[in-house]
Amino acid sequence: MRCACGVRKRSVKRGCNKEEASLCTNNQSPLFIEPGMNIFQCNWGKTLSFFTVFVVALAAVFQYLENSETVEIPRMDLNAMEENYRQKNRTCFVLGASGETGKALLKEIVERNIFSKITLIGRRQLTFEDKAYENLVQKVVDFEKLEEYAEAFQGHDVGYCCLGTTKAKAGAEGFVRVDHDYVLKSAELAKAGGCSHFHLESSKGADKTSSFLYLKTKGQVEAEIEDLGFERFSIYRPAVLLVDRQESRPAEWIARKFLGAFSSAFPTAMSIPITSVARAMLVNTLQDGEQKVEILENKAIYELGRIGDKK
Ligand SMILES: NC(=O)c1ccc[n+]([C@@H]2O[C@H](COP(=O)([O-])OP(=O)(O)OC[C@H]3O[C@@H](n4cnc5c(N)ncnc54)[C@H](OP(=O)(O)O)[C@@H]3O)[C@@H](O)[C@H]2O)c1
Repeated sequence: MRCACGVRKRSVKRGCNKEEASLCTNNQSPLFIEPGMNIFQCNWGKTLSFFTVFVVALAAVFQYLENSETVEIPRMDLNAMEENYRQKNRTCFVLGASGETGKALLKEIVERNIFSKITLIGRRQLTFEDKAYENLVQKVVDFEKLEEYAEAFQGHDVGYCCLGTTKAKAGAEGFVRVDHDYVLKSAELAKAGGCSHFHLESSKGADKTSSFLYLKTKGQVEAEIEDLGFERFSIYRPAVLLVDRQESRPAEWIARKFLGAFSSAFPTAMSIPITSVARAMLVNTLQDGEQKVEILENKAIYELGRIGDKK
């Protein structure tokens, strides 16, 4: 007869013999198994303990992340704010309207009808079946020669930037080209064209001093746009975006499935629904900003993104 006591070094893997088992202390009760039982059956107690410790540790990390930011959002009457904003007759442009956040944002601003004109600036013409989208203006530009398309950026009060790519898709150089160069150039043209409120979808952890290319690039572009001196500059730093993405991104898919499972208990620890980001951008547009430059971290985005939801 063999056992899975596991306290005697010699027999940790294969279990311990009867003699060794007798040396187990009371709270380490040996598990006797018959010859032929596999190691998983033998070590189920240890596996279960390890799994329990892992889950508890993970929950503690999520709990910590969930509570690491405190945010107070005042009560707001979204309908009244929309009505008030509509009176201002503002215009806007959206960069990245074909992407996941861009689509969700566009839906918000079109359905709520808060702008007198909406221009989509992108590298390709988009088609929409919904009649609500028929008044959109589209400007197709070559991002490699953006200065030749300065006119596309002129005459908009508000600019939204949801542009971005990934290193996996574009390579390191291509990623910097889009997420830094295109974004910065667009912001420069927007500023020159009269835009007063620029919204940038950046990322959780953005930091120009980071040694990670992604976070460093995001941090750098934030800082360089800040230097342009918009009347108001709103930076959104969402965590992993929860969305059924059309494009296949296996690593992101796994992260989303994993984080999605925790998101009802810890909604802002490491992820955020994309609809919350879009709603937050809309609500923040309607608010009178008190700061010239504001950074909305994940929890603030989430809380702002709940405004207007039916309870
Ligand atoms: N994914 C996440 O979990 C996550 C988390 C935090 C922050 N973010 C950031 O949030 C932003 C938006 O993310 P998303 O997932 O909503 O974006 P997305 O779905 O990947 O859409 C990206 C947009 O950028 C455009 N774009 C990409 N490469 C381009 C190029 N070479 N030239 C011109 N346009 C180009 C795309 O246009 P086409 O449709 O023409 O390709 C699309 O409109 C990004 O900056 C991203 O880094 C993402």
